[in-house]
Formats: sequence, structure tokens, C-alpha cells
Amino acid sequence: MSLKSTQARYGTIAMAFHWLTAIAILGLMVTGQLMDGLQDAARQITILQWHVPLGLAVLALTLARIGWWIFADSYPAHLSTGWQAVAAKAGHAALYALLLVMTLSGVAMMALSGAGETVFFGSATPLPDFGDYLPRIPHGLGSKLMLALVVLHIAAAIWHQRFKRDGAMTRILPARE
Ligand code: HEM
Ligand code: HEM
Repeated sequence: MSLKSTQARYGTIAMAFHWLTAIAILGLMVTGQLMDGLQDAARQITILQWHVPLGLAVLALTLARIGWWIFADSYPAHLSTGWQAVAAKAGHAALYALLLVMTLSGVAMMALSGAGETVFFGSATPLPDFGDYLPRIPHGLGSKLMLALVVLHIAAAIWHQRFKRDGAMTRILPARE
């Protein structure tokens, strides 16, 4: 298996970026949902102690992933043609855009509110109402949009695997020698 992608399949580094991000996004969606409408501040602090580092890891992975694609690797050939190829490209680009919107709005929320002191350094200052800060809006809307796109993305992967049988899933999974 090669580190870089070939025309036929994704390389090990691209696969690692993809699946590490996928697992982290699952964790972020679950922890995000657990915080939604939560009244218990102590519990919200505990959840944020997981949510924020996981979100920062996704930011680092996404920046490294974009750099990897631009400077080192090139995409495998498209499996689809016509409108399906356009939809796949647009869908993937939208997922990247949302990864940046979500992580950067999260960082901005924490920075503007100063909540880091309370979440990570044991400050007695109560948690702020994040709704008072503008980046809360793209963070909330973006999370819903991302969930919808990820569901579509998974549906497309299953459709490729089950009905088109073109190996879309196999080429982003480690090869069985
Ligand atoms: C791709 C990355 C991320 C995803 C998918 C994500 C997802 C979510 C979701 C689903 C919620 C609940 C939203 C709602 O109920 O309307 C949430 C809330 C929150 N997220 Fe993230 N998040 C990400 C990254 C980050 C980062 C990097 C930070 C901080 C550095 C962060 C800080 C927060 C905070 C402070 C809240 C609570 C807001 C509140 O209680 O009103 N998130 N996130
Ligand atoms: C269980 C969850 C997931 C499954 C089954 C899945 C499946 C796949 C498959 C089969 C491909 C390869 C498409 C091709 O052959 O060209 C792919 C690529 C891709 N996926 Fe996912 N995916 C999942 C989660 C995610 C998540 C959470 C994101 C981002 C939020 C994401 C973003 C992408 C992107 C951007 C690509 C294009 C390749 C790249 O730039 O790395 N995927 N996915």
C-alpha cells in the first residue's frame, strides 16, 4: 500500500485523514447534541472538556489534510461522470468548507467568551451564555447542515457499494492483500 494516492485508490495518508476525521465528527455530533439545551453547568463543562479538544484535533487534521492534497498528493480518478461527478465534487468541497466553518466558529466562540478559563483552568467564573456571541449562529446552523450532508454522503457511499459496485468504498479502505 502506498502513502500517496494512485489513479485507482486513496493512499494511506488520505485514508487516515478521512477516517480519523469521520470518527472525531461522530464524537463532536454526540457531545454537541448532549449540550443542546442542557441546564446543568457542571455537566456542560465536562462535555466541553471533550468537545473542544476533539474539535481542535479536527481543525489540525483538516488543515494538514488540505496541505497534503495541495502540496503532496492528487485525487484518484472520478468514478462517476456527468452530474454525479459534479455532485460528488460539490459535496466534498462543501464538507471541507463546513469543517472549517465549524472549527473556526468554535474557536471564535471560546476566544470571544473567555470560557477556556472556566472549562480548562478551574476558574470559578460561570460559563457564559454562548448565544451572546455571533459565531454561535454559524456553529449551530453549520452543525445541522453538516449532519445532513454526512447522511447524504454515507447514503452515496452505500449506493456506490451496493448498486453501482464500482469499489468506491474499497478504494478508501486498506487493501486486503
Ligand atoms: C467539526 C467540528 C465541530 C462540530 C461538528 C461541532 C458540533 C457541535 C454541535 C452539534 C453543537 C450543538 C449545537 C446546537 O445544539 O445548536 C456544538 C456546540 C458547541 N461547540 Fe462545537 N463542534 C465542532 C467544533 C468545535 C470547536 C473546535 C469548538 C471550540 C474550540 C467548539 C465549541 C462548541 C461550544 C462552546 C458549543 C456550545 C454552545 C452552547 O452551549 O450554546 N466546537 N458543537
Ligand atoms: C461513516 C462515515 C463515512 C463513510 C462511510 C464515508 C465514505 C466515503 C467514501 C466511500 C469516500 C470515497 C469516495 C471516492 O471513491 O472518491 C469518501 C470520501 C470523502 N469523504 Fe467520506 N465517509 C464518511 C464520513 C465522512 C465525514 C464525517 C466527512 C467530513 C465531514 C467526510 C468527507 C469526505 C471527503 C471530503 C471525501 C473526499 C476525499 C477526501 O478529500 O479526503 N466523510 N467518504
